[in-house]
Amino acid sequence: MAVAGCGSREERWSLAGATALVTGGSKGIGHAIVEELAGFGARVHTCSRNAAELEECRRRWEEKNLRVTVSVCDVSVRAQREKLMETVRQTFDGKLDILVNNAGQLLFKPAAECTAEDFSNLMTTNLEASFHLSQLARPLLIHASIAGGGSIINVSSIGGSIAFAGSTVYAITKGALSQLTRNLATEWAPNKIRVNGVAPGFVTTDMIKDVDPEYMKQENSKTPLGRSGKPVEIASAVSFLCMPAASYITGQVICIDGGRTISS
Ligand SMILES: NC(=O)c1ccc[n+]([C@@H]2O[C@H](COP(=O)([O-])OP(=O)(O)OC[C@H]3O[C@@H](n4cnc5c(N)ncnc54)[C@H](OP(=O)(O)O)[C@@H]3O)[C@@H](O)[C@H]2O)c1
Repeated sequence: MAVAGCGSREERWSLAGATALVTGGSKGIGHAIVEELAGFGARVHTCSRNAAELEECRRRWEEKNLRVTVSVCDVSVRAQREKLMETVRQTFDGKLDILVNNAGQLLFKPAAECTAEDFSNLMTTNLEASFHLSQLARPLLIHASIAGGGSIINVSSIGGSIAFAGSTVYAITKGALSQLTRNLATEWAPNKIRVNGVAPGFVTTDMIKDVDPEYMKQENSKTPLGRSGKPVEIASAVSFLCMPAASYITGQVICIDGGRTISS
C-alpha cells in the first residue's frame, strides 16, 4: 500500500529511471556501488584514471545487462572534473539524480614525515574533488526526477572521526568530508538535494591489501562483528540513501563498520 505522497513500496525501494555518477568505479567499493545502483535500475556513469581497466569493467557490465558508461578522469585535476561533468550532462541529457563521491586514496605515513606534496595530493583527491564535483553537479541535481530529490553521497571513513596512528592527513580529509556533508545538506535542502555520507571501517579492497595482517587481526578483535567489511555491504547502504525510501534523511554520515566505533 502507498504511504500518502510517498509512492508505493515498489517505487520507494527502486532506482528505476534514475541517473548516477560514481567516481572511482573500476575497483573496490566504487565498483560495488556501480553494480548495486545499476542493479536497482539506475543508468550509471563512472570514471577512474586507468582506461584499460575501465573498458574491461564496462564490457563485463554490458554482459550483465547493467547500463553503465565510463570515461577517464583524474578527479584531482580541476579541468578533468569539469570535462567529466560535461560528459555526464551530455550522457544523461542535463539531468542527474545521484552523485557518489567515492574516489579516494589512503596514505599510511607518520605525520612528522608527510611532505607538502603528500598533503596537497590527499587534500585535492579526497576533499577538493568532492567539493568541486558537488558544485558542478548541483545544476544537474536540481533537475533530478527521482522522488525524494537528488542525492549526493560522500564516501568518508571512520578514520575521519576516530584516530588511527599513521593516517593523519587521510583522517583530516575524511573528517572534513563528513562536515562537508552536513553543510551542503543544510545549504542545498531548499533545492531538494539530499546530502549524506557513509563512513566505512576496514573493507577488503586493494586499498588495504598491504596493511600488516597482524594489525588487521587486532582491528578485527576490536570490531564487535569480528571481521572487515565487504564492498557490497557499503554499496547496499549507499543505494538505500539514494532511494525515495530515504527521502527524509539528509546530512547524516552512517558508520558501516561492524560496530568498530561503538565498541569500548
Ligand atoms: N577500503 C577501506 O578499508 C576503506 C575504508 C574507509 C573508507 N574507504 C573509502 O572508500 C573509497 C573507495 O576506496 P576503496 O577501498 O574501494 O579503494 P580502491 O580499491 O583503491 O579503489 C579506488 C578507486 O578510486 C579510483 N581512484 C583513485 N584515485 C583516483 C583519482 N585521482 N581519480 C579518479 N579515480 C581515482 C581507483 O582507480 P584508479 O586508481 O585506476 O584511478 C579505483 O577505481 C575511498 O574514498 C576510501 O577512502 C575505504
